[in-house]
Amino acid sequence: MIVAVDGPTASGKGTVAKQLARHYALPFLDTGLLYRAVGRQVAINKGDADNAADALAACDFPDSLLDDSALRDEATGSLASRVSIHPEVRAALNKHQVDFANQQGGAVLDGRDIGTVIAPDADVKLFITASPEVRAKRRYEEMAKAGGIKTYEEMLADIIARDERDMGRDEAPLKPAEDALLLDTSDLTIGDAVQRAIALVDAQLRSRS
Ligand code: DC
Repeated sequence: MIVAVDGPTASGKGTVAKQLARHYALPFLDTGLLYRAVGRQVAINKGDADNAADALAACDFPDSLLDDSALRDEATGSLASRVSIHPEVRAALNKHQVDFANQQGGAVLDGRDIGTVIAPDADVKLFITASPEVRAKRRYEEMAKAGGIKTYEEMLADIIARDERDMGRDEAPLKPAEDALLLDTSDLTIGDAVQRAIALVDAQLRSRS
């Protein structure tokens, strides 16, 4: 079974996808981490994330970079969003994701274009959303605990800018697949969001059998 989980930043999609993988005992890939590694490698190379050649060169990052805690930073998230615009970068990262999705036994992947590009034939597609204000509050609280220095207003502006870039790009923009099931987590605890997601997957599987 392939489960595609897409949605904007801080929607809860990462936690939901990870818990779905655990519940159904499937391997899990956080595809955003690949784009974050490219963004981080551009910075390490002192390159320009908006330059396609610099971004493509950074796709050659070492595997060890995937364990770097700096990948979780908001600054790296923004670099990831910038490098992800380049079709060359998407092409360089796609094969690994498609192979992961199509491994025997199936997989859960989360990202922006899993249901539309990476696994268009996924058995279940979820699109997880939440209002920008709720997402900014979640991210602000998470970053404040880690000693972050941004205000809530700055975080909200970052989230809106990232949404616009991810949804507005020409190549594989963030959008729900036509057959995606929508889950709005604005008023849900993360535990409730996971339970709803499991119920949606189970219902979809029942309707197909
Ligand atoms: O999910 P995330 O916040 O870790 O993703 C960081 C950025 O990477 C996101 O703003 C856009 C890009 N991305 C993408 O274009 N396609 C994906 N499948 C995953 C992430």
